[in-house]
Amino acid sequence: MATNNKKFFSHEVIERNMGLLIICSILVVIFGGLVQIIPLFFQHSTTQAAPGVKPLNALQLVGRDVYIKEGCYGCHSQQVRVLASEVQRYGPYSVAGESVYDYPFLWGSRRMGPDLARVGGRYSDDWHRAHLRNPRQFVPESNMPAYKWLQNKDVSSENIQNRMKTLNSLHTTHTGQPMYSEEEIAKAPEMLKGKTEEDAVIAFLQNLGVGYRAALAEQNKANATTAQPAAN
Ligand code: HEC
Repeated sequence: MATNNKKFFSHEVIERNMGLLIICSILVVIFGGLVQIIPLFFQHSTTQAAPGVKPLNALQLVGRDVYIKEGCYGCHSQQVRVLASEVQRYGPYSVAGESVYDYPFLWGSRRMGPDLARVGGRYSDDWHRAHLRNPRQFVPESNMPAYKWLQNKDVSSENIQNRMKTLNSLHTTHTGQPMYSEEEIAKAPEMLKGKTEEDAVIAFLQNLGVGYRAALAEQNKANATTAQPAAN
């Protein structure tokens, strides 16, 4: 459409000048990014633990490392999305405050298997043990590998204290508070005595989503009108 009205910021001028179009596009993307990212630095919901969420204990922490080492996160997400179908299947949707103790978080992006963010307490330890050793015993068409060797790997010689100290320094940089007390670090090796990688990964799984779900149930009891807390 021809127009004689050639103001500097008319669309025509921008669209016909490749360099100007690129610069304006970059400015728009930068502005949009900053508007989304900067408020997160000041939002407590991203730096403070959600209700009921606590740091993992020593055994659960080793279990988390087994989970990472064995690639479980390649098939399992830990992030319930804000969709009715997800909430009905898995439970309350995930909030940022649930991941403040995770370095790195394990939200994942692929789901070959179900989401595990709320799997804690859904099955017994014995069920997990049997399922990990042979998933096809329960779901004949399951493509989950059988993790038979986890039961034979002792974890008592893991360098758990160093890992906890490293997490402490990361968490202090992030929030100004350490994650573990000196006492918890001192007691950690005791907790791993006689435990296997299988025990550890089960302890980790059984803790997933438990604290947050319990805290929500408490809140809902106190305030029967809201099903989810407002994201603040
Ligand atoms: C190749 C993909 C794959 C990998 C790797 C994998 N899984 Fe699975 N997982 C599945 C599938 C598929 C299912 C659903 C069928 C079943 O229960 O076996 C499943 C189911 C599960 C369940 C039951 C979840 C529920 O709500 O019923 C748990 C718990 C689980 N996996 C834990 C693990 C752990 C722990 C690891 C790592 C040690 C792991 N998975 C590795 C694919 C995988």
